[in-house]
Order: sequence, then structure tokens, then C-alpha cells
Amino acid sequence: MDAPNGLGFVDETPADIKSFFDSAPPLKNDAEIRRKLKEFIERNHSSSENGRARRVVCVTSGGTTVPLEKRCVRYIDNFASGHRGAASTEYFLKAGYAVVFLHRRRTYQPYCRSLPEDPLLECFEVTSESNITVQPTHAKAVKEAISEHHAAVTQGTLLKLSFTTVFEYLQMLQLIALSMRSLGPRAMFYLAAAVSDFYVPWESMAAHKIQSGSGPLDMRLAEVPKMLSMLRKVWAPMAFCISFKLETDTKLLLEKADMALRKYNMHMVIANELITHKEEVVVVMKSGNITVRRDKTQATADIEDPLIKLIVDRHSAYISSES
Ligand code: PMT
Repeated sequence: MDAPNGLGFVDETPADIKSFFDSAPPLKNDAEIRRKLKEFIERNHSSSENGRARRVVCVTSGGTTVPLEKRCVRYIDNFASGHRGAASTEYFLKAGYAVVFLHRRRTYQPYCRSLPEDPLLECFEVTSESNITVQPTHAKAVKEAISEHHAAVTQGTLLKLSFTTVFEYLQMLQLIALSMRSLGPRAMFYLAAAVSDFYVPWESMAAHKIQSGSGPLDMRLAEVPKMLSMLRKVWAPMAFCISFKLETDTKLLLEKADMALRKYNMHMVIANELITHKEEVVVVMKSGNITVRRDKTQATADIEDPLIKLIVDRHSAYISSES
């Protein structure tokens, strides 16, 4: 295989992937993202946790949008709330990983999941002209959120990067993967974001707000190329890769997850159904499937707790087998 160029492409990059990246609007904060990633990876490359070299996971979270106009007024979106990604990030940090949290702007954030929707207005009260205090009912959650988030940021183990569109998401995923390549098998990708399957290519997108009044809107969407093979073959070939498969039809779920496992050579595919995704997932692997369930005896238990334990275990075995 030819060496990748600066963007991570090799000459044999499939035409649909090349054309997606060539026509995507460039990232506005490209230089800043590269700088943050470089610092983060350098810091964690040489650091250790419990006597072992630190592992780094990229957790993707929330859903991507598909703009319908260049000066975007309307867009296609999906349901993903980012809860899975935010919860998983907390458990990876607890397990000693450094986390690049690639998330959709304004979705769930690590450590803030148990706060009310409008935390500033609901958690605090003005007690005198110069004093604001935390409402006693929210004191524990606020204290934990602040101290655990602060610890992760000051220890340099949490890097948050945000996206909105599918163009931003896939360009950022590529930058992250290329910067994590040097970590070899210590790198992991945990792709929980719901990525748009169809998009309007930038060059055929309306420049201004689409006008109504001339009958039905006729719009042709192109298929977003799957990037999983690029990730596995070119961007970060040694990394441990986990993708997700979401379906609403139970009959299709495991078959499609198994297909993704083989087609994209993933180490794991986590299969979940829309209505039960917070209660149960099936981890599909070449060695067999494992069902993971939330501990229903505890009201606040997360399914991500046992799930991340299983993943950390399998990642350890993978690192040993590769070294
Ligand atoms: O955020 P929550 O509300 O908590 O919900 C979590 C979740 C249900 C969204 C999550 O658990 C989940 O299932 N995420 C993946 C859903 C999905 O979009 O699957 P998919 O079939 O479109 O994609 C499968 C995999 O291919 C994904 O890992 C995706 O990152 C990857 N992909 C998808 C499209 C594309 N063009 N390139 C890709 O690499």
C-alpha cells in the first residue's frame, strides 16, 4: 500500500470517499483542533496509569446533521441524545483511559447527565445581593459534576471536541484517527455517534434558503460513504475498533451487526434496538456474542458500567496479543 499523504489518503482511496472529503467545506478551526490533539496525544503517549502505559479512546457521541442549504436554515437530524457517549466517557475515565470525546454540540456531557435540563436556573438560588448558593436537592450532583470534570481536565485525560454536521464529524474523525495512530494497539475507537447515511453534496447544495411556493421540494441525497474501512485499513490500522449498529427491526439487528463486523473488520460491533438501547445491548465479536444488561435492581445503574468493563477486558487481551 502506498504511504498516506498529509490527509491520510492513499492513491487507492475509494472515489466516493475522496470526493466526499474533496467537496466538504473545510473545518473552520482546523489548526486549533490539530494543536489540541497533538498536545493531548503527546501528553498521554508517555504517561501511565496503575503501572501500565495510558490507553486512549475516541468516543463519538450524538448525531450528525445534514445541511440542506450552504447558509444553513434547514437540516436533517436524528434522534441521538449523546447519553451513551457521555456515560461511556465517564466509565472509560474511571478505568484509567484518556478520552477524546467527539460530540455533537449541545448534547449530553460527561458528569452532567443527572443535572436538570436547565442547571443554571434550577440548581442555584440567589441568597443575598452578592451570594449565589446551590439548592440542597442538587448539591451532591453539582459537586460531583464539577470535581470529576475538573479532575479529568486538569489531569489532561479528557479532550472535548464538538461537531454539528456530517462534514465536520467525518473530517474530525479522520484527524483524530491519524493523530492516534502512533499509539498502536493502545488506541481505541468507540463509535457511538449516529452518523447520517445520506447527504446533499456541497457542490449541489442551494447557496441560500430554499424558497417555498413552487410546489413540492424535489431533492436527491447521495449516500455518505462508510468510513470504517478507512479507519481500519489506513487511518489507524492497529487501533481496537468498536462500531455500533442500531435497528428498529429486531429480525435485522444481529444479522446486520455481524455483517458490519466482517465487512469492516471491526473488533466488536455493539448491536442495540431503539426501544431497549438503554437496557440491553449485544456485543457481537468473531469469538461469539455476549448480551449485556443494565442492573435493574438499581434505579440509577447504567448499562455502560458493565459494557465498558467488558470492553476494557477485551482491549487488554488485544494489547497483549499485539505486543
Ligand atoms: O446517543 P443516545 O441517544 O444515547 O443513543 C445511542 C445510540 C443508539 C445512537 C448508539 O447506541 C448507536 O447505536 N449508535 C450508532 C447508530 C448508527 O447510526 O448506526 P449506523 O448503522 O448508521 O452506523 C454504523 C456504524 O458505522 C457507526 O458506528 C458509525 O459510526 C459508522 N458510520 C456510519 C456512517 C458512515 N458514513 N460512516 C461510518 O463510519
